Amino acid sequence: MDQHSAPLLAIAQHYLDVDDAPFYMPAHKRGQSIDRELRILMGANVFRLDLPELPDLEEPIAIAEELAADAYGSDRAWFLTNGSTCGVQAMLLAICQEGDKILIGRNCHKAAIAGLVLSGAKPIYLPTDYLPEFDLDLGVSSQTLELFLHQHPDAKAVMLVSPNYFGVCGDLQKMAAIAHSFEVLLLVDAAHGAHLGFHPDLPISALQAGADLVVQSTHKMSGSLTQSSILHLQGDRVNAAQIDRTLELLRSTSPNLLLMISLDVARRQMATQGKALLSETLRLSREVRSQLSQIPKLRTFSQREVPNLDETRLTVMVNQLGITGFEVDQYFHEQLNVMAEMPTLTQLVFSFSIGNTQTDCDRLIAAFQKLDNQECGASRHTLDCLVIPHSQLTPRQAYFAKSIRVNLDQAIGRISVESLCPYPPGIPLVCIGEEITGEVVEILQAILRAGGVVNGASDRSLETILVIE
Ligand SMILES: Cc1ncc(COP(=O)(O)O)c(C=O)c1O
Repeated sequence: MDQHSAPLLAIAQHYLDVDDAPFYMPAHKRGQSIDRELRILMGANVFRLDLPELPDLEEPIAIAEELAADAYGSDRAWFLTNGSTCGVQAMLLAICQEGDKILIGRNCHKAAIAGLVLSGAKPIYLPTDYLPEFDLDLGVSSQTLELFLHQHPDAKAVMLVSPNYFGVCGDLQKMAAIAHSFEVLLLVDAAHGAHLGFHPDLPISALQAGADLVVQSTHKMSGSLTQSSILHLQGDRVNAAQIDRTLELLRSTSPNLLLMISLDVARRQMATQGKALLSETLRLSREVRSQLSQIPKLRTFSQREVPNLDETRLTVMVNQLGITGFEVDQYFHEQLNVMAEMPTLTQLVFSFSIGNTQTDCDRLIAAFQKLDNQECGASRHTLDCLVIPHSQLTPRQAYFAKSIRVNLDQAIGRISVESLCPYPPGIPLVCIGEEITGEVVEILQAILRAGGVVNGASDRSLETILVIE
């Protein structure tokens, strides 16, 4: 296919000039009634192109999705305007029925937990490997996957996160082969992997590895607007009609055209210039890595220490400075306007992409140099690998169970009705339906004390929590 074409951009250019009398939605009527200040701020074209699903958009959208399938290497692609959240839920709902077993990495995103509630599937959580030296989640190993498949050969599918928030991809090719040897589907949450497959120095993409269904947040790591993602299908193990049917349930009936246009041009950009653009991104991230590793007490890692690492993701260990990642993040943000993607107790994670410039990198290096001269507090934390809490009910059973509110310290030993996720990365410390352990309570309190954010709790102070009655 001609990857230089962009059918949705072309139709947008056409619509910009159409002078119609708009008696269709949305109500701002191509910006005619939009708030004046907003129009000045955003520009008039945004509103002229905020169009509903007009009949003549159908064909360009279909062609844009075909181009995306061709560029990313799938057999079918669906544009999503509700993020990978929608794609992850669609994968689970399309594949699993009530009570079906699914092997799922315990580092899954909370979107997957929501997908389990929707589908009623019974998750068998796969423990992830952990590298204490870098306080690093390595994802599910192929050995773990094989072991669990031997124990649960009746599983409908395996769902893995690859890359994870730290850019660790794992040996996905091997895991696809293992899953398929058990005749089990491989679903991959590649929310962080939309750029993979476009540069030889990056790990291969989940589609190249052989996954059956893959969702990628094009907005996170490629050039589209926030909330735009793509769900891909590869091969004939999954019926495309089943995905269509599921998306009918989950998708808005008013997809945002601006988001879809941005998906179309992001695909064109990656397909036609991806390698050159990503070469520069990798050059910048490697340069920063090398400069930061010369600053005393800071540590980073690369593909040398962590195989299958996406080096556009940079993790900087700050624990030897005697300060938490949250404290560094606050200082960088408030004093220097340098913004990390994610702080943790021990690290800061920086997401490099084709949008970053040399100036951004110079500011990041300068920020760490300044930090080196600061008086740091004496706190020092490390977060050991979490033991997977015991799970008694499926997420769906727990979601619909009768609940009561108890103090957090009285919740130990009870079953949680909430998934509590430090955010980012949005990986639940305790999933809905799991037992709340003393260890979980301790970690939650440590994160809150250190200034971190925990999502998913109905009581945001986390003094109380909902548990099953
Ligand atoms: C691993 C993972 N999966 C899914 C999602 C949800 O993606 P989106 O924000 O595109 O809905 C995220 C978001 O951070 C994520 O990190």
